[in-house]
Amino acid sequence: MAVRPYIVGNWKMNGTRSMLSEARSIDRAAERLIKVEVALAPPFTLIHATRKEAGLIGVGAQDCHAAEGGAHTGDISAAMLKDSGAGFVIVGHSERRANHGEKDADVKAKALSVLAAGMSVIVCVGETEDQRDVGKAESVVARQLKASLPEGEVVAEKVTVAYEPVWAIGTGRTPTVDDVSAMHRSIRQVLIGFYGEEAGAKVRILYGGSVKAENAAELLGADDVGGALVGGASLTADGFLGIVAVAAEMQES
Ligand code: PGA
Repeated sequence: MAVRPYIVGNWKMNGTRSMLSEARSIDRAAERLIKVEVALAPPFTLIHATRKEAGLIGVGAQDCHAAEGGAHTGDISAAMLKDSGAGFVIVGHSERRANHGEKDADVKAKALSVLAAGMSVIVCVGETEDQRDVGKAESVVARQLKASLPEGEVVAEKVTVAYEPVWAIGTGRTPTVDDVSAMHRSIRQVLIGFYGEEAGAKVRILYGGSVKAENAAELLGADDVGGALVGGASLTADGFLGIVAVAAEMQES
């Protein structure tokens, strides 16, 4: 696992102000678990309040529009997110790709707007079950990466990749440790090809898809896994902190 694992909670379309108590509890625990970098991506409506309530953890958004501003009813720009307290934005989540028809080029445009606004970005990639079944998982992910990632050695340090097999998200199913290891090794090779030996080696690669405290040790222990992007299990402080605690223990052992 990475020097300091990065555990990010993605609340998706969940959470009203009553859930801020969960964020507060997570933040308080993060004070003790300093060997782990902890962050939450609540819905847009809670970013500002989460930033105010939780001073230690990272706070980010789940998506943004690629444009700086203008006539885009209902959309939110990266600069607006920064202004509301976000420090990072997740782009290219498979639910955005599937439900909103986002293509790799859209994801890249969003990633560039996030970087231009001075935040860091988590770029999500992952294969469908059909693609895995026909042996194309690694080639699909490589293609997504090459077309979705913002270019340039200098931006690499602001980029995190999240590998999330679509069929593992919210299903309780996870790939084998060997499959996760093979995919993360393959992603590393793509990153080195894309950003160069030095910069490409430093980009963190998170695993996401049905991570919970019970399976965190084996998933985080797979080759080149630098942390986790957690959906369902991040909705309660107990569930999320269970994963953070596993990551912290692994750092100590
Ligand atoms: P899950 O979601 O942990 O509920 O599977 C992960 C994600 O979509 O980021």
